[in-house]
Amino acid sequence: MVTGGQPLNGTIPISGAKNAALKMMCAALLTDQSVYFENAPNSLRDMNSQTELLEYLGCAVKREGHLMAINAGPIDTLTAPYDIVRKMRGSILVLGPLLARFGEAKVSLPGGCAIGTRPVDMHIKALEEMGAEVEIDEGYIHAKAPKGLHGAKILFPKVSVGATENLMMAATLAKGETTLANAAREPEIVDLAACLIKMGAKIRGAGTDTIRIEGVRKLDGAHHFILPDRIETGTYMVAAAMTGGSVRLQNARIEHLSAAIGHLSQTGIDIDQDGQDILVSRDPNTPLKAIDIMTEPHPGFPTDLQAQFMAMLTIAEGAGLVTETIFENRFMHVPELNRMGANITVQGNSAIVRGVEKLKGAEVMATDLRASVALVLAGLVAEGDTTVNRIYHLERGYENIVGKLGDVGAQIRKA
Ligand code: EPZ
Repeated sequence: MVTGGQPLNGTIPISGAKNAALKMMCAALLTDQSVYFENAPNSLRDMNSQTELLEYLGCAVKREGHLMAINAGPIDTLTAPYDIVRKMRGSILVLGPLLARFGEAKVSLPGGCAIGTRPVDMHIKALEEMGAEVEIDEGYIHAKAPKGLHGAKILFPKVSVGATENLMMAATLAKGETTLANAAREPEIVDLAACLIKMGAKIRGAGTDTIRIEGVRKLDGAHHFILPDRIETGTYMVAAAMTGGSVRLQNARIEHLSAAIGHLSQTGIDIDQDGQDILVSRDPNTPLKAIDIMTEPHPGFPTDLQAQFMAMLTIAEGAGLVTETIFENRFMHVPELNRMGANITVQGNSAIVRGVEKLKGAEVMATDLRASVALVLAGLVAEGDTTVNRIYHLERGYENIVGKLGDVGAQIRKA
């Protein structure tokens, strides 16, 4: 439950990036040696689901605070079952590594989810181009490459974070060179490549739209420090912008948020950098100005911050246009925000958000991670109490959100 009206002041430590950590856990499947991670986000449901999957496959996973050690020496099955995969789509990322190392993998199709149908056709087609024989049977992707994968020139028809990562990992153990063209350029991909390179992989170009991987015979163990979560950072920047006050986001990476920061600055808030920290402040008496945003693959504006920015626009001066180009159904927060008094009209993949003077607390419910956090943000500025139901969505991706917001002055508690 959130009681609105408190400006936020103080320091929020930023956790390691969930969407990098989940993929690096899969990278550990590429070797029989131990891989050690520092700055792994703690107590996240998605991290627990990935741990459950790796343990099911036979890996030894040790976790202590933000440290994680994975040993995929003793793998005893190559099947990722529906019951675990359905909890989190990120588990499709075991496909490339298992196939590359063992020549076979059987992974449940993840199915659709609240934000869209989210097919995995590009993952499958690209693996076929690398020599895999793939059959879809009874909801499972069954991929075989008895003679191993071979290098290929892959041109993705659309930019996909997951397909780029799955193929980059698979190509590390393939025979010959693989080129991934029209690759995704997210910072999490650069960090995954850095981790793989420490394991002995030969990768060039991560962070550009063309990645080249020269296959090696085997990979080794490594130590890697996971980069800070740019979406968590952006979420708390929006929280500070909405409530007013002055917040220090500790151990963040400002260069990973260029598009979001460019837009945020136009709303009239101050953003500064102090070493590895980002300082965000707004005088509560200066109103926020409305802006337009359109989601795009990195380095464009991230879809994972769209709902949070929309929550901010509900109380900005003027009208803003929000256009979602990545997922076909990522406006589930709109009816809930409107129940809190927002004025949002959806037309196709765009939403017009007309700023209102005040939001009013309400009982709300969300169906995905970023939509849930947008409702928490709205609750921080709404009059009265907001109860956000189904907070397990929040717990998938925000480490200790109640504690972190509470420490900077928010009135928030887990019911
Ligand atoms: C990752 O999902 C993130 N998840 C998402 O974050 C994020 O929203 C998304 O990238 C875009 O930035 C993780 O990293 C675990 P895509 P991913 O493949 O890899 C279509 C969050 O809130 N597509 O880049 O699944 C797809 O349907 C989550 O933390 C195909 O058509 O996203 C979408 O429209 C939500 N065929 C577009 O591409 C394919 O084979 C981009 O998806 C693959 C994708």
